[in-house]
Formats: sequence, C-alpha cells, structure tokens
Amino acid sequence: MPQTIAVLDFGSQLTQVIARRIRECQVYSKIYHYATPAAKLREDGVIGIIFSGGPQSVYASQAPHPDPAVFELGVPILGICYGVQLMGHFLGGRVAHSKAREYGHGHLTIRKPGKLFAGLPRELRIWNSHGDKLTKLPPGFSATAVSENSPYAGIEDAKRRFYGIQFHPEVFHTERGVDMIRNYLVGVCGCRQDWTTRDFIGHSVAGIREKVGKGRVLLGLSGGVDSSVAAALLHKAIGRQLTCVFVDNGLLRKGERDYVEKLYKRHFRIDLRVVDASKLFLRRLKGVSEPEQKRKIIGRTFVAVFEKSLKEFGQKAEFLGQGTLYPDVIESVSIAGNPASLIKTHHNVGGLPARMKLKLIEPLRELFKDEVRQVGAALGLPRDVVWRQPFPGPGLGVRVMGDITADKLEILRNADAVLQEEMMTSGYYWKVWQSFCVFLPVKTVGVFGDERTYDYVIAIRVVESTDAMTADWAKLPYPLLQKISSRITNEVRGVSRVVLDISSKPPATIEWE
Ligand code: XMP
Repeated sequence: MPQTIAVLDFGSQLTQVIARRIRECQVYSKIYHYATPAAKLREDGVIGIIFSGGPQSVYASQAPHPDPAVFELGVPILGICYGVQLMGHFLGGRVAHSKAREYGHGHLTIRKPGKLFAGLPRELRIWNSHGDKLTKLPPGFSATAVSENSPYAGIEDAKRRFYGIQFHPEVFHTERGVDMIRNYLVGVCGCRQDWTTRDFIGHSVAGIREKVGKGRVLLGLSGGVDSSVAAALLHKAIGRQLTCVFVDNGLLRKGERDYVEKLYKRHFRIDLRVVDASKLFLRRLKGVSEPEQKRKIIGRTFVAVFEKSLKEFGQKAEFLGQGTLYPDVIESVSIAGNPASLIKTHHNVGGLPARMKLKLIEPLRELFKDEVRQVGAALGLPRDVVWRQPFPGPGLGVRVMGDITADKLEILRNADAVLQEEMMTSGYYWKVWQSFCVFLPVKTVGVFGDERTYDYVIAIRVVESTDAMTADWAKLPYPLLQKISSRITNEVRGVSRVVLDISSKPPATIEWE
C-alpha cells in the first residue's frame, strides 16, 4: 500500500484540484467522504489528512462535519479555508459568521514560517474564497500568517501537527501554493514522494480487475486521446475481457479508420470491432444543411448504431467503459450521495448505460487532460495519439458547409490530409491547438494550365488556444501557408482556391458550424 494522504471532501469544487496538486508532489492521495469514520482512516493507514474547502458555514444546519475522532488519530491535519473553520469550531476556537464573502486576490504576510511556510518569501499573493472566518484561536494554536482581512490567515499547533490556512493553496493564483502543499506532505507528514504515473497505472489496473472480476467491458473507441488511453488502460487490466467498438460514421479524416484498426487491433491486440455505418449516416444527412439539425442527426444516429453494436458484441457485458476525465465531471465527489447525477453526458451516449443495464467504468475520472496524456505515454501509446489535436464528435459533418455529400467529403478529406502532412512536417501541428480544413460550397473561377476551372473553396483554420474557450488564429509563416495552398490546389481535384480564416474566438467559434 502506498503512503496515503486522505483528502476529506467538504463539498469544494476544488477538492480534485487538491488531489491533483498532491499527485504533482508525487504522493498518493484518496478523496474520502467528509464524515468517513476515523477508524476507517486508521484502517487505511493514512499518514496525513487534508480538509478541503466547502461552500457552507460551519454553523449551517446541514453543514458537513467530520467525525470528531479524526482529531484524536495522532495524524497531521491541514485545514484549507472551510477546513480551518472546522478546526476552530471543533477544537475550541471561535468562528464568526460574516455576511460578505471575501473573494479573489489577497495578500499574505508570513510571521512565523514553521514547517508549512518553510523556504517561502515573507510576502505572497494568495487567493481567497470564504464567508466565515476564525476570530479566536483554539487552545494550543498560534497565528503564523496574516492577511489584510484576517489575523489568522495561517495557524498551527505544531505539537499536534495541526495546520490551517484561510486561503486556497491549490489554485494557480496563490503564489507558491504547491510549495505549501509539498511542505505539508513532506515536512509534516513525512511523505517519500515516490508515487509516479507507473504507480497510478498499477493501482488503477488492480482497481479495474477487482471491480470487473470475470465480467466483460465494452468501450466506444473514437480514436481521440481520452477513449484511447481508457482503452489501453482497460486492456492492460483485463485483456480480452475488453471489447472496443469503433463506429465509422463516414465523417472521419483520411486514413483514420485504418490507423485505428492497425494500432489497436494489430499492435495492442485489442478485441476491436469496427462498425461501418457510413452509408446510414450519409443517407440520414442527405439534403440537410442546417448546422444544429446535422449535429442532432449525427448524434442520434451514433447512439442508435452504438447501441445496436453493443447488443451484438456485448451480450454478456456488464460494464460500459468511458474515457470521462475530471473536467467532464461537473462537481467533485457528490456529498449528496449520488455521484451519477453529476455526470455530464459524454460522447453522446447519455442514458444508454441505464437502458442497457450496464455499469459505468471510468478509469480516468479523477485525472486532468495533461495527466491522461502522461498515462497514455506510459502505456506505450504513440505520440501522435497522446498529443493529438481535438477532433469534434460530429467529425467532418461540421466542416462541410451546407449539405453533405460523399464527393464533398472526399474533397475535404484530401485537402485536410495535405494540411495535416504539412503541419506535421513543419512541426507546427504540435504547437497549435487545432488545424483543419473547411469545405465551402462556393464555386469560383480559376485557371489550371490553359483551362478555365469553376471549382470549390477550401478554408484553412489554424488556432492557438489553451482551453478552447477562447482562441486566436495562428500566425503561420507565409512560406508554409504558400506551400499548403499550392499543394491543395495542385493535388486536390475540385478545389481552385484556398482561403485563410483569420477570426478569433470570440466572436467566431473554432469550428465553422
Ligand atoms: P467551438 O467550435 O465551439 O469548439 O469553438 C470548441 C472545441 O470543441 C470542439 N467541438 C466539439 N467536440 N463534439 C465534440 O466532441 C462536438 O460536437 C464539438 N463541437 C466543437 C472543437 O473542435 C473545439 O476544440
């Protein structure tokens, strides 16, 4: 068993971020329900406890409280925000109910570094988000840091190894916040910092095996990062008990289906079933040009095809695997006791597991995207899968403007393949957020050799972004743009003109539809 830090979840949106910071310090942590009995924590051998923040006031009638016996375990405790108020409330201090919430940037002055603030500058920028505050220290405690609004922004009882901070060290806006967490883990709890991605994989594999037993798991593989890593991880755990289903909706990029088949079937030897539904999709999309309508048809058809294929391949399956990541989960571990109600429908298969009486298995549920990439790389997935650009679920369906036909898709696929090749060769593929072509159903006049042509337009969309919420068009070098343009017009039949999209998001979106 690894050295374990228990994070008691009092309902903060940031609980998973605390867990993530602990992983960054190469320490294993487990999130527990706030009222977990102290005996259970002892049984699990936890060597340190962190109380998360929470939205409540300690005085509220429904306020989440820990088992008071956790203070008797003899294990260090770090209270963050609401967590520090709990310490005040339970250990004989006083907490004042304040009407105004203190929210946003603040300033910390460290008076007594102790173990928690060891090695840090005396003055730091911090991030606050709390209503109540501590107004009287519990016996045995002393103040270690102050902020403009609180003489008790940092407190400690070094003898019992209880520490409290009124602000949030886990968020990016708190300067040196990770160092405070590391100080607690290493300096106070004595963690060895030896928990690595490989350990995560080993631990996760053991967990999957225990949960699945001799059962069967079905997984929809899209070829994107999340489902690919989930497939590789599940496969490592249960091998042939995993069946992956890949739906060819006819809206894939050039060579995509072959690539997926080669990699997962031949290289990883995963039981992969490819369902060719391209004709069905195209038939249902025929003549439809309204973007939302297209998306709806694609989504509905996908669910129908997926459900049918699951029935066909997975008669004995009890589990549906999904590559859900933490950002897909709206809230942290539910304190209302119903985690399922908090899950955002993912990959358009919401409702399907219940209808098919399948249990969900989501091995990446606690991870953030970059951590998933690390796991994928450690599992041996190639770089072009792990670092692949996002690709929308409806695929090229939202990149052919107007109605979709096989001919238009073919033109778009060929143009996009040229763009991708040039982006890869120049290395820009890895530097931008997304790069793709869009098919415009506009014919313009051109000249090719001695002949007058009347062909379509391809738009190039290349954007930089960090989270897709906002984006800016990438300033690719002119010679690269020139090469992409001339190759597309020369090599792709049906295209006589290439234009560059120079819109940012907002007001434009990344995709055109
Ligand atoms: P927009 O176009 O809204 O896109 O700026 C933001 C990001 O989301 C991707 N995207 C989708 N992904 N299903 C998906 O899985 C979709 O329907 C979808 N629409 C847009 C888009 O590629 C970009 O990364």
